[in-house]
Amino acid sequence: MAKPIAIEVYNPNGKYRVVSTKSMPGTRWINLLIEQDCRVEICTQKKTILSVEDIIALIGDKCDGVIGQLTEDWGETLFAALSRAGGKAFSNMAVGYNNVDVNAANKHGVAVGNTPGVLTETTAELAASLSVAAARRIVEADQFMRAGLYDGWLPHLFVGNLLKGQTVGVIGAGRIGSAYARMMVEGFKMNLIYYDLYQSTRLEKFVTAYGEFLRANGEQPVTWKRAASMDEVLREADVISLHPILDKTTYHLINKESLATMKKEAILINCSRGPVVDEVALVEHLKQNPMFRAGLDVFEDEPYMKPGLADMKNAVVVPHIASASKWTREGMATLAALNVLGKIKGYPVWGDPNRVEPFLNENAPPPAASPSIVNAKALGLPVSKL
Ligand code: GLV
Repeated sequence: MAKPIAIEVYNPNGKYRVVSTKSMPGTRWINLLIEQDCRVEICTQKKTILSVEDIIALIGDKCDGVIGQLTEDWGETLFAALSRAGGKAFSNMAVGYNNVDVNAANKHGVAVGNTPGVLTETTAELAASLSVAAARRIVEADQFMRAGLYDGWLPHLFVGNLLKGQTVGVIGAGRIGSAYARMMVEGFKMNLIYYDLYQSTRLEKFVTAYGEFLRANGEQPVTWKRAASMDEVLREADVISLHPILDKTTYHLINKESLATMKKEAILINCSRGPVVDEVALVEHLKQNPMFRAGLDVFEDEPYMKPGLADMKNAVVVPHIASASKWTREGMATLAALNVLGKIKGYPVWGDPNRVEPFLNENAPPPAASPSIVNAKALGLPVSKL
């Protein structure tokens, strides 16, 4: 028999059983579920990544919905288990859902939720922070100070790159990529080059207007360019930030060849998904090009780093914390809970998953809808009018 998994229970007599595989920030998400007659069970097992067997044990014989995490493998086995337990709803507490086999969910009639909209600015802010940290060698300098090595100002000490007037390259100018681009253009007066299958008219308009503002004030205007290929961005940009989704087409998008096309002193930022970068090739590139820098929030074999990466002073590495602001994480928990609740209650799916503010307003009840269900169409779920 499988070992029992530690849980914490709220509202034990609730009619619907909702399981969260992790404790999540804030309490609003728990209260919203309780108010709608849910018994909420939160896994408190001291184990960072739950196995499929652990989650099967959590689902048990009767479960109406599960809130899960991007570290979990939500495929055929788990959706079959959830469906056997009578469950019709699952939500990732994440915008990305490459850990979820949506076809398997469709097969078992399980709605799959995610949490877009609420993490755009927070994630973009981390990408911007990594850009600055890499450009100005902040982590290296911090370690130097703490090691007691600072014995006086020197002209060559931790000389890095000036961002102003340089070019920021964005691969994937969706919500997060565009927010990051705006921060770098507005904050550091960088020129923009971006590559995306779709034209980002709003982003272009923003850069044009900001450029005009700067010109009117006697400053050098910023410019934008939509690249015809990703290579063009890699060749021309000084700082390149990756914002694609991870799928077959973006696996190892950055590899030995693409790294070789980048400038020797370029900075590469990845806050998307680890496998978008061939990390072994990146380590080699960092070794061969000491002036090249990387800022990484995600890794190919999370939670591990490829051999050698931890020794590279020209890489700044953080543990997948791009969405980790209090507001965003509490909001993600709320959206994930409401995705599950909406399906349990038979509510429609919200018409625009990017306009989630009404769900995040703590002073009003949330709309009677699931904020974001990625397989709504496949399951033929009704869509609410905004
Ligand atoms: C975090 O990586 C997310 O996809 O939300």
